[in-house]
Amino acid sequence: MKPLPTTDLSVDQIQLGQFETWGRPDRDGLFAKLRAERPVSFHEEGEFPGIPKGPGFWSLVRYEDVVRASRDSETFCSGQGSNIGDLPIEMLEFFGSMINMDAPRHTKLRKLVSRGFTPRVVASIEETVRTTACRIVRTVAPKGSCDFVEEIAAALPLAIICDMMGIPEGDYRRMFELSNVILGVGDPEYGVTLDVLMNAAVELSQYAQALGESRLTSPREDITSILMTADVDGDRLTSSEFASFFILLVVAGNETTRNAISHGMKALTEFPDERRKWMADFEGVAPTAVEEIVRWATPVIHFRRTATRDTEIAGQKIAAGEKVVMWYSSANRDERAFPDPYRFDVTRTPNEHVGYGGGGAHFCLGANLARREIKAMFGELLRTLPDIRVVGQPDMLFSAFIHGVKRMRVEWTPPR
Ligand code: HEM
Repeated sequence: MKPLPTTDLSVDQIQLGQFETWGRPDRDGLFAKLRAERPVSFHEEGEFPGIPKGPGFWSLVRYEDVVRASRDSETFCSGQGSNIGDLPIEMLEFFGSMINMDAPRHTKLRKLVSRGFTPRVVASIEETVRTTACRIVRTVAPKGSCDFVEEIAAALPLAIICDMMGIPEGDYRRMFELSNVILGVGDPEYGVTLDVLMNAAVELSQYAQALGESRLTSPREDITSILMTADVDGDRLTSSEFASFFILLVVAGNETTRNAISHGMKALTEFPDERRKWMADFEGVAPTAVEEIVRWATPVIHFRRTATRDTEIAGQKIAAGEKVVMWYSSANRDERAFPDPYRFDVTRTPNEHVGYGGGGAHFCLGANLARREIKAMFGELLRTLPDIRVVGQPDMLFSAFIHGVKRMRVEWTPPR
């Protein structure tokens, strides 16, 4: 059994709201300590220029509690924000679309946009996912080394979501830059202020509105056309609703899957036996390996809810109006739910991780697409570059929200 991570901090010294916490090397140790000693704890909020300091938040770190809050959206709502800090209410929808909504609006919007993600739509792009993964890997293959994040991991989800939305290839790069800005908030490298954030969102929104309107007049074979013309109970998406959903998709579709793929590559380097196991029977092991990669990576570290009424969780009273943060990264390492949780195990069964959320109304809409992309990418990598491995230490994103890898060097023997 892999040893549990530790920390020198006492439970009272752990401050999940302070930004510096996310640069600490003992992050896993902090959560292990909270799970053992204080499963529901209260934290002060950090400060972000331009946003008033909030009242603090409760933290759920055990699997069982994260799942419970996630599945009870009547008690734990999303409409007041799904990140820790409070954005002005008009910005919430602009940035987050349905992720910051509650029933009945959420239900209606989700029903509408689900048209773009039916199993049929997702299956129809399977071939594109495979050929795109193949093209990406063949392009880098002769080089023998590269930055894994930009040239391999990010390239696939970017190309797929842009292709699905009908974005011309010449604009992919700009989508990549803008989604980096939105999720790079707080990392000094991106220097994101509230103004920079707003400008990126406005640029994406204007782009989306123009794209959406062009499909209204001349629909094509893309989800932009499906979404702009879909009709649920007489309702259609307005172009500004479409624009907000577009921002959510471009950001959610790019930043999460790429980090899953990057952490997966790192894990396969660190656990060579697991890699051998997968390579010996790629198709047979793929379903469990892909789930384990997402548990291991937990690309989205948290989402927040707000209590709609006085309630209690794990014996802790929570008052109506208080913020509750579900730490997926901790739930996915909870020793009560996962035997030997710090072991990367490509055949782990069962593996009901909360990487795509803990279940309930907001469960990740793109989960099936992400699974296909991860499988296609590793299929291609392990076949074409069987000795690909991470060298040196990856450069990590400084964030409490996205478990991100910014750069990661890989090497391999170029195929003849
Ligand atoms: C490994 C990749 C991914 C991970 C780890 C991930 C994770 C998540 C998580 C944690 C949530 C919130 C769930 C909740 O609150 O219960 C979510 C929601 C969502 N995801 Fe993903 N996601 C991934 C890929 C994608 C992709 C590829 C897309 C679309 C192209 C996507 C679209 C969405 C949307 C639209 C929502 C909001 C659903 C709602 O509010 O009803 N995700 N995702």
